[in-house]
Amino acid sequence: MAVLGIDIGGSGIKGALVDVEKGVLLTERTRLPTPPGAKPEDVTGVVKQLVQLFQWQGVIGVGFPAVIRNGVVMTAANIHPSWIGVNAEQLFRDVTGNAVHAINDADAAGIAEMEFGAGKGYKKGVVVLLTIGTGIGSAIFVDGTLLPNSEFGHLQIRGKDAEKRASGAARQKKNLSWEDWSKRLQELLSEMEKLLAPDVFILGGGVSKQADRFFPYLKTNARLISAQFLNQAGIIGAAIYADKKISTAGGNA
Ligand code: BGC
Repeated sequence: MAVLGIDIGGSGIKGALVDVEKGVLLTERTRLPTPPGAKPEDVTGVVKQLVQLFQWQGVIGVGFPAVIRNGVVMTAANIHPSWIGVNAEQLFRDVTGNAVHAINDADAAGIAEMEFGAGKGYKKGVVVLLTIGTGIGSAIFVDGTLLPNSEFGHLQIRGKDAEKRASGAARQKKNLSWEDWSKRLQELLSEMEKLLAPDVFILGGGVSKQADRFFPYLKTNARLISAQFLNQAGIIGAAIYADKKISTAGGNA
């Protein structure tokens, strides 16, 4: 079955049709820039534009860079604060006329990696996936089941949000060498090991394309692996999530 997957990020809004049974893209991935400020009306306009570009009528899964509870946006770290309290699912349904299900973007990426990617061999134990891009997102799986809406990118390290120190955007903004930036990421991984003692860390997001530049600097007790889907994980996972929601609702959006 085909589902349109959309991944809303701090710098780009990406979409593609996904075969949710196989976990593969059926079309090219299309990326439009996230409008400056990422206000609800502007982001919604871009989502509408993407749906029109794909001429899509059907189920849509949206990965969103915030805590999402029953479709409602609960936090706003890298998007406009006026998102808080907005029912994003309802908003996107209204403008697109399609069935829409929304999930935290890192949780979406985690679903894709666990079902079809780097995590598929780790259905037992605790797996932590981090997406490292504009922010840092986290997804936690216990015996293959997602604990939704974890927010370890906001763990306080040296008195600051971890993502402010160790995101991909922070590396670029502060012009850090891979080695120096890795030290910051190591602090987050070590702190997470203290709190959760995971069996596996999967590192994804924009930086995972260059895993060989920084993996050698990291040391964890947990097995440390790179995400497989790179910049497709959020799209694929959001589509899988929406498909599951529709199936469990007995075909009703
Ligand atoms: C948000 C998370 C999101 C992550 C990656 C963080 O700032 O709080 O919800 O998953 O960025 O986009």
